[in-house]
Amino acid sequence: MTSYKLAPSILSADFAELGREVARIEPFADLLHIDAMDGHFVPPITIGPVIVQSLRRVTDLPLECHLMVTEPLAQAEQFAEAGGTSVIVHLEAAPDPAPIVARARALGIGVGLSLNPETPLDAVLPWLETIDVLNVMTVHPGWAGQAFLDSMLPKIEAARAAIDERSLDVGLAVDGGINLATGKQALDAGATTLGAASAIFGASDPAEAARELRALLRSYAGASA
Ligand code: DX5
Ligand code: ZN
Repeated sequence: MTSYKLAPSILSADFAELGREVARIEPFADLLHIDAMDGHFVPPITIGPVIVQSLRRVTDLPLECHLMVTEPLAQAEQFAEAGGTSVIVHLEAAPDPAPIVARARALGIGVGLSLNPETPLDAVLPWLETIDVLNVMTVHPGWAGQAFLDSMLPKIEAARAAIDERSLDVGLAVDGGINLATGKQALDAGATTLGAASAIFGASDPAEAARELRALLRSYAGASA
């Protein structure tokens, strides 16, 4: 059965209150999405392994580390050691992802590949069998709060078709600009995981926002059961 997941991204959380922020949304989250940016792959610098280490102490949720970095192989190891449950690596930073997939497997963590909006789906197809999740960027990586690129919907549909054709157990995540309306569009196109930062942590009531997104996901889970 398809597993639908809500992945709140802490990028829009109040980092001075991170433990409390996570506790508020925890009941409605399936995992935490952690956006690590190195100032090279994308201009901002955000979260490093020390934050993952701290989060590991305050939540049992899986910690998915989205590595927007130019040296994902070296970084993957550090995030795993810090308590990360999985890493998502950009194909643009690792055109041959085989060594990273092998390292992740050796470290006992999950591994996914992420595609920037301008990277065609074809580029990832040879690796689809080897990964746990395909993360389709629905904004340009680097910042929370951008508008969902609905031009990515055909890519999501094509990714869904590729996964289904091969009967793979690969999650299809969308990342960027997700709210109730765009989340529904992405789910209709075949996504199974919704990542969301500002729609949750930027809301006046983050728990309620997460609860509503979770309810949307559950309605798809019920339909496919
Ligand atoms: C963007 C990050 C996203 C971001 C999403 O580079 O990968 O995960 O946090 O933020 P929202 O949901 O606000 O678009
Ligand atoms: Zn992300």
